[in-house]
Amino acid sequence: MLKLVVLISGTGSNLRSLLESIDASRGTDRPIEAEVVAIGADTPAANLELAAERGIPSFVVRPADYPDRAAWGDALLERVLEFEPDATILSGFMRLVPPRFVEALAPRLLNTHPAYLPEFPGAHAVRDALAAGADRTGATVMVVDNGVDTGPIIEQRRIPILPGDDEAALHERIKVVERELLTDTVRGLAEGTVNLKEIAE
Ligand code: GAR
Repeated sequence: MLKLVVLISGTGSNLRSLLESIDASRGTDRPIEAEVVAIGADTPAANLELAAERGIPSFVVRPADYPDRAAWGDALLERVLEFEPDATILSGFMRLVPPRFVEALAPRLLNTHPAYLPEFPGAHAVRDALAAGADRTGATVMVVDNGVDTGPIIEQRRIPILPGDDEAALHERIKVVERELLTDTVRGLAEGTVNLKEIAE
């Protein structure tokens, strides 16, 4: 069983979808042999109800409680490592993780991003795509490195921008694809068809 720790900052709708996909696959002839063993957040405002509902352990490590980013990252790493994950997923985790965190966990440290990287990196990818007047954007799942959304790409898919799209509508359409990519990636990790070491080489 692939053990996952997932970190979120907000609503966690992609995580909810992953949990539901794993559940739905049980009892089929191709179950996803993965389990979310802990859910972490950088803010108590994140939707940790998701964890409570399912009896999954959760934790919050707030940057404001530490003298600097490195100390926060070390504390976050310690909490993650308690659960001995096979992979850690940043799923709408809206903070850059410090180098020691990346070095300890990569390449088994994944992120999802609402754009077709390397296009539109950063925290406002959907807004930036609209502001650029692009006619398409995308969704990406990648390995985290020390840059801002620069890590090796695992899977990505194009999504058209439709006339009349606003940020919320476009982001919702992107998330539908992100959820598929995330579930596929977790399945691939569990089945051994996604090899993060090779992807990160
Ligand atoms: C997702 O679209 C994810 O890709 C994005 O935040 C959203 C989280 O949604 N992450 C980033 O933009 C990271 N740069 P959710 O909380 O509803 O799952």
